[in-house]
Amino acid sequence: MEIAGKKDVMNRKEIEKRLEKIDLTLPPPETEPERQYYFIRLLQDWAEKKKKELGRPLYANITTFGCQMNARDSEKILGIMQMAGFEETESEEADFLLYNTCTVRENANLKVYGRLGQLKKQKEKNPDMVIALCGCMMQEKEVVEKIGKSYRNVDIIFGTHNIFKLAELLSIKLLDQRAKQKMLIDIWDGTEEIVEDLPNERKYSFKGGVNIMFGCNNFCSYCIVPYVRGRERSREPEDIIAEIKCMVQDGVKEVMLLGQNVNSYGKNLKNPVTFAELLRRAEEIEGLERIRFMTSHPKDLSDELIQVMADSKKICHHMHLPLQSGSSRLLKVMNRRYTKEDYLLLVEKLRKAVPDIALTTDIIVGFPGETEEDFEETLDLVRTVGYDNAFTFLYSKRTGTPAASMEGQVLPEVAKERFDRLLTEVQQISAQKAAKRTGTVHTILVEEVNQQDSSLLTGRGSQNFLVHFPGDKAQVGTFVNVRLEESKGFYYLGKQV
Ligand code: SAH
Ligand code: SF4
Ligand code: F3S
Repeated sequence: MEIAGKKDVMNRKEIEKRLEKIDLTLPPPETEPERQYYFIRLLQDWAEKKKKELGRPLYANITTFGCQMNARDSEKILGIMQMAGFEETESEEADFLLYNTCTVRENANLKVYGRLGQLKKQKEKNPDMVIALCGCMMQEKEVVEKIGKSYRNVDIIFGTHNIFKLAELLSIKLLDQRAKQKMLIDIWDGTEEIVEDLPNERKYSFKGGVNIMFGCNNFCSYCIVPYVRGRERSREPEDIIAEIKCMVQDGVKEVMLLGQNVNSYGKNLKNPVTFAELLRRAEEIEGLERIRFMTSHPKDLSDELIQVMADSKKICHHMHLPLQSGSSRLLKVMNRRYTKEDYLLLVEKLRKAVPDIALTTDIIVGFPGETEEDFEETLDLVRTVGYDNAFTFLYSKRTGTPAASMEGQVLPEVAKERFDRLLTEVQQISAQKAAKRTGTVHTILVEEVNQQDSSLLTGRGSQNFLVHFPGDKAQVGTFVNVRLEESKGFYYLGKQV
């Protein structure tokens, strides 16, 4: 299939214009994204009739599990559904219900099975409801087999490589009589295809995520992501910059550049570009005020990038730098390709270049072969670095990864005990870090009216901390200066100055 549009730079109006040109009397085009426009048009006609028949709108409910990649994919899915004539709803009593799944740890899978079981009743109430599953978990053969056998109420399953095909799959399901009774399964493996120029929504009007690359090549020995998201592929820098410019025109002030390892961005492009260079180009975009990125792999964190951060006025003073373990021996078995010393050196360089930088991390406890000494080294490193926040994970065996068949699997009770010790340590350190910042004034991007107390606004500082402070809802999406008055652990209470 030919890749037609490569830029995610069209706004809703432009897409609507292109949709109008579609002739439904012809067979569907072969090229993307025109082919999907064709199916969106089909769905629009179907939805018009259906809404009249029901005397109410059609509702779509999307639940997202997992990371920022999935969150961004869900925005794209919602964009397609809205264009097709559905309205978003928070309720699971919907006409279209989708779980965008994650499989990074086993728990993630269990959650989805639990939720699917509960849907049986919903479907009895509304037999026309379409239940769809997509995301990383669906890239696992055993999962799809299990759902095929045990969860017959599922209508559509697709994977991480063909999200752009949603309108086509839904059209088949809704319009083709033969497909109605069958579970429609469409999973692709390892495609290079990046189809863009499709409708896409954003949760916030003033900030948004931008995919700069897809997939991962690192094969950390515990991790399933490279198997379910495929090989690393970067978007062209011109396409990324054009997308950000388009977002800024629509009122976006802060972007989050997304990739499993943004530090290796651009290496496999025909004309290679470094991530640091991409950031330099983004910095020049007029009207863009803040740049964030996620995630940085320590092995690819270059001096050039640190310099760009130091020189930048827009890059936020926060880096999420997953450590995984403080033991160089375990890091090697994890295939992380850095040592404890390499990591500490990076932290030193970062703090020298950007003194008020906030550092956050991910840590796995109970990796196969982890001894008490290895674990102590992790604790020690956590103390030495003094993270602003750390996400701690109990090691979870993922079928097909090298670690799953390693010797020395740690007993669950031992792992749990270490996990609790680590968590206590992490919480103490981040509370100390947060307390140090009280009394200082920060520029905050206001994100929303506080859900518990509508007299309060909630926003984020450059270092990614949250602060609640009294204000007016008209300030959502603007920058205000706030003094951090009291640290509450997860967030601050503050006052505008
Ligand atoms: N690409 C990112 C991480 C994506 S997954 C990176 O390299 O940093 C997010 C986190 O989940 C990882 O950093 C790791 O700490 C955790 N994780 C991944 N696989 C896991 C497993 N099998 N068991 C426990 N935690 C895991
Ligand atoms: Fe998983 Fe490692 Fe890739 Fe991160 S870098 S997604 S932990 S394989
Ligand atoms: Fe989960 Fe897939 Fe992200 S496995 S963490 S949703 S890339």
